[in-house]
Amino acid sequence: MKKPIVYITRKIPNEILVPYQDSLDFRMWEDEETPVPRDVLLEEVKEADGLLCLLTEKIDRELLENAPQVKVVANMAVGYDNIDVGAALEKNVIVTNTPDVLTETTADLAFSLLTAAARRIAEANDYIRAGKWDHWSPYLLAGSDIHGKKVGIVGMGRIGESIAKRAKGFGMPILYHNRSRKPSAEKDLGATYKEFDELLREADFVVSVIPLTPETRRMFNKDAFRKMKTSAIFINVSRGGVVDEKALYHALNENTIHAAGLDVFEEEPIDANHPLVKLDNVVCLPHIGSASVETRTKMLKLCMDNLLAVFSGESPITPVKNP
Ligand code: GLV
Repeated sequence: MKKPIVYITRKIPNEILVPYQDSLDFRMWEDEETPVPRDVLLEEVKEADGLLCLLTEKIDRELLENAPQVKVVANMAVGYDNIDVGAALEKNVIVTNTPDVLTETTADLAFSLLTAAARRIAEANDYIRAGKWDHWSPYLLAGSDIHGKKVGIVGMGRIGESIAKRAKGFGMPILYHNRSRKPSAEKDLGATYKEFDELLREADFVVSVIPLTPETRRMFNKDAFRKMKTSAIFINVSRGGVVDEKALYHALNENTIHAAGLDVFEEEPIDANHPLVKLDNVVCLPHIGSASVETRTKMLKLCMDNLLAVFSGESPITPVKNP
């Protein structure tokens, strides 16, 4: 019997493909670093039965209409704002993502970014490399304490809760804001629910883990930064689109808030000359929240298992529900 054709939008290690080769026929964009050009993708999906894509691909109505046989789109990310899920469901295309397998790794990175921004780690590293360390002095690269400070987590999903666990270990009181209350986080971690504005006013660290949706787009705007403490440190590990980057730049430049740690940006890759990147009180990372070798491998395998399940007539393991 003819095997279903799966188009993979980036070169991935052969070891990931091997266990599935008896059941699936793979075609792949043979470049590890650069995304598949849109016109190539539009051509490739014409014959594909399934798609393994990354967050760099826009899976919109136009693409889905160009892909008459595609039954399933397996997104190698937990976030799926790159996919028009409504259009997919209308066309009976199943969408899957990669939750759970990346939770702890992403929480590790969020906490690393928080500590890096608070303790000026990147700046200190640059300082030595630039040959500037001539003397030791009491306030040399002095940053902000982390222990005992209040963390405010916006978006208390799986990753939010894992960040809260780490914060608890650091002796940080935990505030959170979420669409719905999280009794387990309140009971097990002592987290306190706050309205968004209250959280902004009270937290020393404001951590964004909120998915990008029409409701959350630019929710961290000029008003939000004005409500934060002048000593506040803003961390974003969700999507750049939840932040008004101009407002963030001004807030950081004018000391409306103290510092930021950003793993995600509105436009990725962000230009090295972008004003945000030039600020000393910002730590920027190239969207590496889930980037450990172990976790990236688990994410790819989960994509494969989702594809295989659908083509075997079974339920996908981690389907994305209606937005
Ligand atoms: C990464 O940003 C993801 O959504 O998995």
